[in-house]
Amino acid sequence: MLGVCYYPEHWPEERWALDARLMREAGLDVVRIGEFAWSKMEPQEGQYDWGWLDRAIETLAAAGLRIILGTPTATPPAWLTERYPEALRVGADGRRWGHGGRRHTCPTNPSYRELGARIVSAMSERYGGHAAVIAWQIDNELSNHSTGRCVCDSCRAAFQAWCCERYGTLETLNAAWGSVFWSQSYNAWTQIPLPSDPVGGGHNPSLQLAYRRFASDVHVDLVRSQVAILRTNAPDHILTTNVAVMDDEIDWHTVAEEVDIISWDNYPHGFATPSEVAFRHQLQRGFKRQPFWVMEQQAGPINWTAYNPPTPPGQVRLWTYQALLHDASALLYFRWRACRFGQEQYHSGLLNHAARPARGYTEAQQAAAELDQLGPLERPAARVALLCSFDDAWTHQIDPHHRDFDYWNLLRGLYASLWECGIACDIVRRRAPLDGYQLVVAPAPVLIDEREAQSWRDYVRAGGTLLLTCRSFVKDQDNLWTDQLLPAGLTDLIGAEAVEWFALPPDVPTAVSGAANQSMEIPLWAETLRSNTAEVLLHYTRDYYAGQAALTRQKRGSGQALYLGAYPTAELLAWLWTQLLPEEVHDLPSGVELLPLQTGWALLNHTAAALQVTLPGRWRDRFSGETFTLSAPLEPFNLRLLEAVDREG
Ligand code: GAL
Ligand code: ZN
Repeated sequence: MLGVCYYPEHWPEERWALDARLMREAGLDVVRIGEFAWSKMEPQEGQYDWGWLDRAIETLAAAGLRIILGTPTATPPAWLTERYPEALRVGADGRRWGHGGRRHTCPTNPSYRELGARIVSAMSERYGGHAAVIAWQIDNELSNHSTGRCVCDSCRAAFQAWCCERYGTLETLNAAWGSVFWSQSYNAWTQIPLPSDPVGGGHNPSLQLAYRRFASDVHVDLVRSQVAILRTNAPDHILTTNVAVMDDEIDWHTVAEEVDIISWDNYPHGFATPSEVAFRHQLQRGFKRQPFWVMEQQAGPINWTAYNPPTPPGQVRLWTYQALLHDASALLYFRWRACRFGQEQYHSGLLNHAARPARGYTEAQQAAAELDQLGPLERPAARVALLCSFDDAWTHQIDPHHRDFDYWNLLRGLYASLWECGIACDIVRRRAPLDGYQLVVAPAPVLIDEREAQSWRDYVRAGGTLLLTCRSFVKDQDNLWTDQLLPAGLTDLIGAEAVEWFALPPDVPTAVSGAANQSMEIPLWAETLRSNTAEVLLHYTRDYYAGQAALTRQKRGSGQALYLGAYPTAELLAWLWTQLLPEEVHDLPSGVELLPLQTGWALLNHTAAALQVTLPGRWRDRFSGETFTLSAPLEPFNLRLLEAVDREG
């Protein structure tokens, strides 16, 4: 399903029918509208104007388009913030925000909540049974622009109430937070500070983690409250919410439990590499472990990165296929037509400002036509999983201990190294079931969870390979250091202990080496390991800890558990995958993505150069019908879908 994001309120009504026709001519069949139009829907408190939206929906539906409606709660109108100024959010600097942008309100403010519920009710009473409407997008990019953590008085009180709910008594809270440290102990809930309150020496890490969880819960609750309204008024429609590019202020695994489908907004120019786009697709897919939607797909130059270059020919079509090959079941381009006013005038659309089809339009049209012919692009299940947790991300962010230690970079690096070898990898919640995977990588799972530890033990016993990295199982769920040997509760499984940790300054890397490999430089982080029963695969070669273990392996039945104390660099991982997954490693030119399909391979060239890929066997390209033996040429920003004619060749 391909579609586009449209703002009928930005264009004269006379234009709508032509726009709808051009959408259909591009081969698009779904359109998202409405998500920022609160002031058009409710120009004054309690006075609704649905005429324009009725007509927009009818015009689009008449052209054969299906509609996704966005609830407009990301842009409360000026009458609301004027009448209820305390609904405006307060930033971490303690300043109250003003009107004029978006996401300017506080998610716990009772006026905002009530008026938000009212507009969602009114809107869904009107369109909840509409035959052309298929889905609702709740809000827009909750917590985008780093708006997830408001610190107004309402949020302070809500946080204190959240603490009371979670801990029950102040005694429990004080113990859980170790608040005896620096005389923090609280004897009234109202004494509990917010982590934005200016202090010397920083705030208690347990309080900081609690606040981050609270702020996430607030947004989950916001979603839940809209879900409740929409389930009543639009029982047959699909409910989703769209995740912003880099947003980690909300635990999306938890949000995903509330909605039918996860969608996200893919702007590859906001990322460093094509593998990061793939990483993000898989991250979203993992939120529900189901196909997902791309609600907004970059379709030309954007306006919010440092340089905003144009997209080269072929790029938009290639991004489209990349998304679908990573399991997107719908993709909507952003946006239909470049806008003449407002904050995004330099942002492209499928049509340019003058309503001429831009390159994105032509490429969307081409992709839509091809997809009609191709049919489904089925992928086999991935055999590698990367575990992921927002609680771990927050815990590391609160106390990285090294300026450059970044949880998401760690995950991205692990994913990228697999991507470069053409190894498909799911990214799943830490507590996800692991059966079916051959290799599970747990990157810096800093928070201890005994149930997960048990499931990891079972997984290894059943024949799986578990790779734990440095910074595993160090803190309890309230962010207090364990009194066990590290990794707490897992030393038996790995047959070793992490003894010392070295946060390595940029100019003082360390190095490791093993039986068959050269010395490898290790930046950032190094844990020395004491092996009890494990085999040592890599050891350090520098400084006074030279000779101590850096990577251990313990076999258990047909399974094995590895602990990597050294920071996983690209070089180290490239070596490690050849050890752990020798049959899965492909030798690919840089910038080429290889994705397994049920019947062959997808090969995507994300570079501007013509490349050649070596593949044993004989292959037929589903696009061109050409056959290739042993190697296939790849055009710049283009792809091939190769079906096996004869795998042995
Ligand atoms: C998204 C947002 C859209 C638009 C777009 C521009 O983050 O949801 O409304 O602003 O970015 O790239
Ligand atoms: Zn607030």
